[in-house]
Amino acid sequence: MMKIRLRKYLKPYMRFVVLAPLMMVLEVAMDLTQPRLMAMVVNDGILGDAGLGFIVRTSLIMLGVAVIGMITGFACTVFAMFAAQNYGADLRSDLFKKVSSFSFAELDQFSTGSLVTRLTNDGTQLQNMVLLALRAFVRAPLLCVGAIVMVLSISRTYGLVIAVVMPVIALTAMFIYKKLAPLFTQIQERLDGLNAIVQENLSGVRVIKAFVRGEHEKSRFGVANEALKDTNLRAMFIMAAVLPLMMIVMNATVLAVIYIGGLQVQAAQMQVGDIMAALSYMTQVLFTFMIMSRIFVSIPRAKASGDRVREVLAAEVSITDGDAAVGSTGGDIVFNNVTFGYGGGEPVLKQISLHIKSGEHVGLLGSTGAGKSSLVHLISRFYDVCDGQVLVDGVDVRDYPLDALRAKIGFVLQESVLFSGTIGENIRWGNPNADDAQVLQAAKSAQADEYITAKEDGYDTLLGQRGLTLSGGQKQRASIARALLKDAEILILDDSTSALDLATESNLNAAINAEHAGKTRITIAQRISSVMNADRIYVLEHGEIAAFGTHEELLETCEIYQDIHRSQMGQGVAA
Ligand code: CTP
Ligand code: MG
Repeated sequence: MMKIRLRKYLKPYMRFVVLAPLMMVLEVAMDLTQPRLMAMVVNDGILGDAGLGFIVRTSLIMLGVAVIGMITGFACTVFAMFAAQNYGADLRSDLFKKVSSFSFAELDQFSTGSLVTRLTNDGTQLQNMVLLALRAFVRAPLLCVGAIVMVLSISRTYGLVIAVVMPVIALTAMFIYKKLAPLFTQIQERLDGLNAIVQENLSGVRVIKAFVRGEHEKSRFGVANEALKDTNLRAMFIMAAVLPLMMIVMNATVLAVIYIGGLQVQAAQMQVGDIMAALSYMTQVLFTFMIMSRIFVSIPRAKASGDRVREVLAAEVSITDGDAAVGSTGGDIVFNNVTFGYGGGEPVLKQISLHIKSGEHVGLLGSTGAGKSSLVHLISRFYDVCDGQVLVDGVDVRDYPLDALRAKIGFVLQESVLFSGTIGENIRWGNPNADDAQVLQAAKSAQADEYITAKEDGYDTLLGQRGLTLSGGQKQRASIARALLKDAEILILDDSTSALDLATESNLNAAINAEHAGKTRITIAQRISSVMNADRIYVLEHGEIAAFGTHEELLETCEIYQDIHRSQMGQGVAA
């Protein structure tokens, strides 16, 4: 897999990436100055004889330091947020572009649910990591080292306390990391699982209701939900247990600092204000360890997200533009010994050779799974052949720029998909430049006008997601209208009349015959009646062409065709 660096998304925002830590350095410096100033007020102002003026002056300086600390802290957060948000937006935009460029083969590979999670949740995780890196990553070590140096500058003896406390804290942090990191990875996985179930349930809710599988799905969700809760609870339990532990360490440290300080004050080696400052510094040290253990936990999480995002970005798009100049038109299609299998596996099309001349109408018949859809998908180059060649107008489809190739083809896919928006907009999808009269004409030919105008809002009727407010046959007719409006040289109808009654279907065929006469047309169907008037019918069996000829020829010679014919008697096929 190609190595992809996600860091490059920070490049355009380098000034923020540099400015944020810089501001943080200032903020930490201010945080480290404050206890020092306080010690001065106590030692010289209150206990000593520097006078009220000194106290007021130093207090004002402390106020100034606090204000600078606040401003730099705010600036740091703003810069870090700028970098992180822009990083996230650019990353998502690239992910989206990448997913849009996926060909059918890559779409077969990633599930929709997982792509959604990668684009949203994983993107956000990485974005949070940037924020964390620009703030906490800088703050924790700086403050820790700085505070230790300050404590030692007050009294070397405090080195003893640090020497005892540090290993305890470090071990605790390690323990947290060891225990929590895998838990958080597991949480991420379980969240994924839960998302998948929810997605499946939402898209399949009708099937679930039809089969009364609601209870089963609820328990499936329940199991995943419980599992997520359990893992979350275990993580929270560890974090909760750590807090009192840290408090004990903290209190012990406070005691040690006061005790050692007290001894030194008695020995006149130190003043009371210094003890107070030392206490502040030690607290800072302890807190940085808390922050660091949190950071350690979030690293594996972000790493998991990074891997998942990289997987998408690195996926090689198998179908890319060729560079042949688009020459002749006409819609002539040739298959030369084509063999094809999904993912290069078991061939579902074997040694297919056929020639569909410009302007011909060809039917494609065969039982389900015979390979009909696969065959026409190769013409639009949704997939690439494993062996052989598909030529459109004499040029190998792999040599075309994809847009140019697909501009030649009006495709009605087997599964009609419409988009949210109005019916009119959906039809206009086929050709955004079409005027209203053309849209109306396409809808009329597709036998869609009647049901559309019967609706209250006509062509402005709003469709729900995926056109769910239409019946199966209405959706099919809307997608046919969309393809007819495209007015391309080749028209491919993949089983797109399966939900239409025979009368509507024959009206549709008549309209297409009349208005798209010169076009190359491929009609896939289960019913003989849908294709019996074609110039030639190919009968596909197990990925091979079993026979071809006109309706009459096949009736005479082809046994499979006769069988199909017999089974469909009375369905509009003349006996
Ligand atoms: N297939 C596959 N992966 C896909 C699509 C199809 O492995 N993404 C396989 C199917 O399992 C089938 C074979 O390819 O065995 C042919 O599928 P297809 O061309 O879709 O068959 P059709 O003849 O179009 O079947 P139907 O009439 O049901 O649409
Ligand atoms: Mg099919």
